[in-house]
Amino acid sequence: MIQKSEGQEDASEQHLTIPAEPRAEGVARVLIPERDIQHEIQVIARELDEEYANDKPLVVGVLKGAVTFMVDVMNAMTIPLEIDFMAISSYGKATKSSGVVRIMKDLNEEIEGRRVILVEDIVDSGLTLKYLLDLLERRNPRDIRVVALLKKNKADAEKVQVDRVAFEIPDEFVVGYGLDYAEAYRNLPYVAILDPSVYSTPDGE
Ligand code: IMP
Ligand code: MG
Repeated sequence: MIQKSEGQEDASEQHLTIPAEPRAEGVARVLIPERDIQHEIQVIARELDEEYANDKPLVVGVLKGAVTFMVDVMNAMTIPLEIDFMAISSYGKATKSSGVVRIMKDLNEEIEGRRVILVEDIVDSGLTLKYLLDLLERRNPRDIRVVALLKKNKADAEKVQVDRVAFEIPDEFVVGYGLDYAEAYRNLPYVAILDPSVYSTPDGE
């Protein structure tokens, strides 16, 4: 299942090769290579530096999926900022949204009058984000901007505010760079598609 790095691929294809390492077991192909992610993060960080230069934004990460992206973005930013986290219920082991959102951990910080950057891993149906935005807007922040690593191209998705998307992707289930399947694969440095056999094993049901 895992393609072995032989060191003889064309240089332009090297970044799409899946390294033969345990964390990549079950990965079928790389959708967004590490270097593309890291490049886009620099672009986003420069935009945020400029937009929030005088405001010390509160960067809010939605646990757990957004952690990898949030940390890389905040470390690439050069202005003062603060961070906080929210945790919401996820799909569990299923690959489809139940539409049910539950707050497992709320913010520690007051956001009234503050500028908030909400960092999300992926906007799929949009239900999670819509719920979070409604909740946070009621606390009267100065403004909220949403930065998402991924957004799926979906005709039936909720109309929801997403101010900056790093990558638009097809409507497929993806893992890596924070995103999980049954809590696995979060520590892949790239975004990948799994082999269908992973979903059909008793372990990943
Ligand atoms: P939504 O409410 O349907 O937009 O789903 C948002 C949440 O579902 C994300 O924050 C992820 O935790 C999870 N999710 C949606 N699509 C994927 C995927 O392709 N891979 C992994 N997690 C996903
Ligand atoms: Mg998840």
